Amino acid sequence: MQDKWDDSEFVRKWDVTANEGNPSRSEHVSLIVSLLRHNSGSGERVLDIGIGSAQIEAEFFHEWSDVEFVGIDYSEAMLALVRSRLDALRISGSQCALIQADILDASTLNFADASYKNVLSVQTLHHLPFEKQRAIYRQVYRLLQPGGWFILADRVAIGQQELGGVHEVMWDWLEMRAPVKSGWSGHQFITRFDGKDEQPMRLEEQLTSLREAGFMAACIHLVLNRGVFVGVKAERRG
Ligand SMILES: C[S@@+](CC[C@H](N)C(=O)[O-])C[C@H]1O[C@@H](n2cnc3c(N)ncnc32)[C@H](O)[C@@H]1O
Repeated sequence: MQDKWDDSEFVRKWDVTANEGNPSRSEHVSLIVSLLRHNSGSGERVLDIGIGSAQIEAEFFHEWSDVEFVGIDYSEAMLALVRSRLDALRISGSQCALIQADILDASTLNFADASYKNVLSVQTLHHLPFEKQRAIYRQVYRLLQPGGWFILADRVAIGQQELGGVHEVMWDWLEMRAPVKSGWSGHQFITRFDGKDEQPMRLEEQLTSLREAGFMAACIHLVLNRGVFVGVKAERRG
């Protein structure tokens, strides 16, 4: 089934089931919050490309409120969820500004050079064509300050056809250990992405694309088809 980000019911359901079929999600959210905390000083700005319902910001704001977020998303239904989540946490619009825009439009990321300390994108960019993902990496590099981090958590293409049952076994093992069960067998896991209009990159492609955009890049967490990458923009020398 295609994702319907403009449908309030689909989005509400996504928000409450985000961990289902994604056993790494809660670790990723926690890891991303730690990365953000480490690399953001008071008053510094974080851009979130595809903010969704602001689950990551909510996690951050549970403990701290000294960083300013700017979130972009084209889904009015998601942004409505963000507003009610932030209201409940008493987070103001200046602490988390929202921009409704399509990231397929190159002008959406036309912020000033070096205007953000960190940029975040979680489970979003695989919805775009490869070339667009790479173009966004180059834009993100430009709008980060030296020493800034691009924290990218996304699906990773795993070439399941080539390795027989390896990925099915890994899925079954993950599902057995997952606190939130999806109910999918290994075969269902492998075939559920068929027919989806999505373009996750392979691990090597992701790292190469980040490096070609100018970053020093590493994959710091990878479980089956979900990875967290960090692209670091080097500090200026001299
Ligand atoms: C799977 S959700 C992830 C939300 C959030 N990053 C998180 O992990 O909690 C993907 C988000 O990307 C947004 N999105 C997808 N394609 C987009 C586009 N072309 N422009 C702007 N937002 C987009 C969707 O509306 C949705 O909110």
